[in-house]
Amino acid sequence: MKIFHTVEEVVQWRTQELRETRFRETIGFVPTMGCLHSGHASLISQSVKENTYTVVSIFVNPSQFAPTEDLDNYPRTLPNDIKLLESLKVDVLFAPNAHVMYPQGIPLDVEEQKGPFVTVLGLSEKLEGKTRPNFFRGVATVVTKLFNIVMADVAYFGQKDIQQFIVLQCMVDELFVNTRLHMMPIVRNSNGLALSSRNKYLCPNSLKISENLYCGLKAAENAIRSLVPGASLSRSEVIDIVTQIWAPYIDSHDFKVDYVSLADFKTLVELPAVENTSVQQPLVISCAVYVTDREKPNTIVRLIDNIVI
Ligand code: PAF
Repeated sequence: MKIFHTVEEVVQWRTQELRETRFRETIGFVPTMGCLHSGHASLISQSVKENTYTVVSIFVNPSQFAPTEDLDNYPRTLPNDIKLLESLKVDVLFAPNAHVMYPQGIPLDVEEQKGPFVTVLGLSEKLEGKTRPNFFRGVATVVTKLFNIVMADVAYFGQKDIQQFIVLQCMVDELFVNTRLHMMPIVRNSNGLALSSRNKYLCPNSLKISENLYCGLKAAENAIRSLVPGASLSRSEVIDIVTQIWAPYIDSHDFKVDYVSLADFKTLVELPAVENTSVQQPLVISCAVYVTDREKPNTIVRLIDNIVI
């Protein structure tokens, strides 16, 4: 009889046993909300390359939308998504309806919700969480449900939603979830705009303006990477470098800054200053900006981006 005293020992034993009976087969999993683009394709291709089987889910998760957000208008393109998944040689698509995922129903008003929910305190309230208070509760809940259903070895997430990745990593670590997370780099257009399903809402002119998001972050990255040993930049100096690039657009009708953050990569605690990269812990410069569409002034899209250094 084997006697184990740590979670790691149990998990390791279980994984090994499973592997032996499954002839070392692995399952890779890519959870999505559909409207798939090249960013998703890069996650899926990585999973197909690294695993015996790849499962993709498409589920527009109501619990991560506030009552004021775009749940009903969120782009849904299932027939095109299926074609893309077939061309990428995905083994399984899981596309449940809301009743399957939330048997007690899922009203958007949190006060009316019933059933189990997962909250990652300390990380979920920061940055995106300030504008979207229940967003990460919704994400952590649906990802837990999906992980329990798919029981994958590894799940792939994009760096674009970096706070989502950090919240989920904490959830996986501290709830002892037996699915590993793999973060894949941001896929950008040729001018640096991070691909997002919500870019679809913007006309070509507004997309051009949105490309400045990355230019600002990149300028800050260059300044940090050029720091000589012993030198440092204060938090406000870093943020000024970003916002100077955005200056022609800031607070115009087109471009309103929600936040620019300079934070520790693991804890998302804001840093007072940053030093030469040889001594600096990994950090993330992230931002969220509201872009108003030039052709449809009622359409305001919130774009996020980040760089990890
Ligand atoms: O990143 C997304 O598309 C969603 O937040 C996710 C992880 C599929 C959960 O609904």
